[in-house]
Amino acid sequence: MLVLGIESSCDETAAAVVVDGERILSNVVASQVLTHARYGGVVSELASREHLRKIGPVVDAACREAGVSVNDVDAVAVTEGPGLIGSLLVGLVYAKALALSLEKPLVGVNHLEGHIHAVLLENKMARRTGKPGKQVEEPSFPNVTLVVSGGHTSLFRVEAEGDFGFWILDFGLKNGIASPSPKSKIERVFNPKSKIQNPKSPCVFSYVRLGQTRDDAAGEAFDKVAKLLALGYPGGPVIDQLSRFGNSRAVDFGHIKMKGNPLDFSFSGLKTAVLYRVRGTELAREAEERRMWRQTAEHPTLDDLRGRCSQATIDLIASFQHAVVQDLVERTLAAADREGVESIFVSGGVACNSLLRERFAEAAGRSRQQVFFPSLGLSTDNAAMIAAAGFYKLAAGERADSNLTAHASLPLG
Ligand code: KG4
Ligand code: ZN
Repeated sequence: MLVLGIESSCDETAAAVVVDGERILSNVVASQVLTHARYGGVVSELASREHLRKIGPVVDAACREAGVSVNDVDAVAVTEGPGLIGSLLVGLVYAKALALSLEKPLVGVNHLEGHIHAVLLENKMARRTGKPGKQVEEPSFPNVTLVVSGGHTSLFRVEAEGDFGFWILDFGLKNGIASPSPKSKIERVFNPKSKIQNPKSPCVFSYVRLGQTRDDAAGEAFDKVAKLLALGYPGGPVIDQLSRFGNSRAVDFGHIKMKGNPLDFSFSGLKTAVLYRVRGTELAREAEERRMWRQTAEHPTLDDLRGRCSQATIDLIASFQHAVVQDLVERTLAAADREGVESIFVSGGVACNSLLRERFAEAAGRSRQQVFFPSLGLSTDNAAMIAAAGFYKLAAGERADSNLTAHASLPLG
């Protein structure tokens, strides 16, 4: 089944064509980073306008790169929330109109569900294209998933019911590569009344939310600290790279304490602790100088930026990053222990963080749990993850009707 995925919940306009939820034919992401960088964060009105300009060309590019015509697509999957309402509406209205005009099924996908499916998609691709002798482990269910991005920091217990390998078996493997589904089989998927000859059932996923942030998301804290110190936008990648030159033990921010649910998160206190260490000090003066310099610097490199940061600034951000990562890893492992699961998924923009990946790998080495990450390109917002998540819903017979609309807040689990 060829699914066209469309994602526009925040500041990336994205479209992708994915076969059977496991083979990416194209994954096009038009980033708006340059538009929002000067404001140090996403400006929603500007984001919607840019989505409007880009959505058509991005969908065209996704089909072109996949080598298919939009008429070849079997179904459309679109992010229905959560996110910026104006941004979501652009993708959603486009997807609805497209599905209607093509007379193809449409399904709405929760953005967080998309991030969870990015891990599965990555794993399925790695297993299919894996090198001989290098076995790629298959994740087990239920698992615990940490979705950690600029808008979210949540822990889920993810359950999968049905046969995970159903569609690969059903559509047949040609030389180990799943071929696009023949039309006859697609009909069988799309008509819930038709008798499915294969006794196995398609995989249905369900989600239980175990915890979430009570204030800032982890990525938001990275972005705000970077803004305070005039390090650029988005803050996560810059802090990640600069921190390699810093001493992460220089400032002891201590453990983040949570009353109530121990699987909830809170990063605003940590962000404020950084602010107190900067305000009225030499670090603030240095940040102001950097702010002035950035206004004229065309495309500063990491070395340029590093040259304008004192060791005290670099140590401070390295310590901040260490505190965030430690908290994310500890709470996720605690959730996995409590739930008694063997697989942990980590996804979302902050999953790109190199220290986070290192710390999870170390923790996995010590415990019986295995940790799965998507590649960097599938960790941040993209539409392949929406197409992959949508595929399983479509396969299970789910269809959106004309009432499908966008929701700024759309809980999962
Ligand atoms: O998933 P995403 O692309 O969009 C949202 O759904 O929010 O995540 C973007 C967030 C930003 O806050 C960005 O600073 C953060 O992910 N990020 C990182 C890194 N790369 C991106 N945070 C820490 N370290 C990174 N390497
Ligand atoms: Zn996201």
